[in-house]
Amino acid sequence: MSDNPSSKLNRRRFLAGTGLTAATSVVLDACKPAEVAPGSGAPPEVLGPGRTAITLRVNGENKRVEVEPRATLAEALRVELGMTGTKVVCDRGACSACTVWVDGTPVNACMTFAMDTAGRSITTIEGLGRGGSLHPVQQAFVEHDAAQCGFCTPGMVMSCAALLNRKSQPTLDDVRTATSGNLCRCGTYPKVFEATLAAARGGAGTKEG
Ligand code: FES
Ligand code: FES
Repeated sequence: MSDNPSSKLNRRRFLAGTGLTAATSVVLDACKPAEVAPGSGAPPEVLGPGRTAITLRVNGENKRVEVEPRATLAEALRVELGMTGTKVVCDRGACSACTVWVDGTPVNACMTFAMDTAGRSITTIEGLGRGGSLHPVQQAFVEHDAAQCGFCTPGMVMSCAALLNRKSQPTLDDVRTATSGNLCRCGTYPKVFEATLAAARGGAGTKEG
């Protein structure tokens, strides 16, 4: 690996932009069973190995699902709950098409175990708008023609909306970094950046996501 400090900075920025590596490990770390001192009480609960009932809090509603421990959050959403707005493209953490928020942080749903998200607040593209209206970032994507085939679009929107929640007036570089893990084979990036900056100018970042 290069010792050039700027290359290290760029790699860090890329990883931060994916909303994946650090964010996912936060979720998983927080879900580790509590350590039990010898002789101090009951052992941690063991779930599985078969299908096990858990409650997912999705877009503000509790949903009871049965999943195997190996099931990803993307599978639980799409297969068990029929919520197909979250897309699966690579299914291995490389494209961020499956981006959802867990406790407000973007994560790749294909790299997150469903069981690790039980009891947490999950937001999907279906829950981003309010009262039948599109979220301002979704509206800006429409107005700026930021989708072609649309397969990457839900993940792009979730990454951009999360950015505006963190920083209401981002720079172009901020938007590039926030979406650096979101791959678009149709090449909509310029429109995605344009739409996100327009949504920010319109005050999207001052509203709750
Ligand atoms: S489908 Fe999850 S990162 Fe590509
Ligand atoms: S719009 Fe087709 S992959 Fe992005």
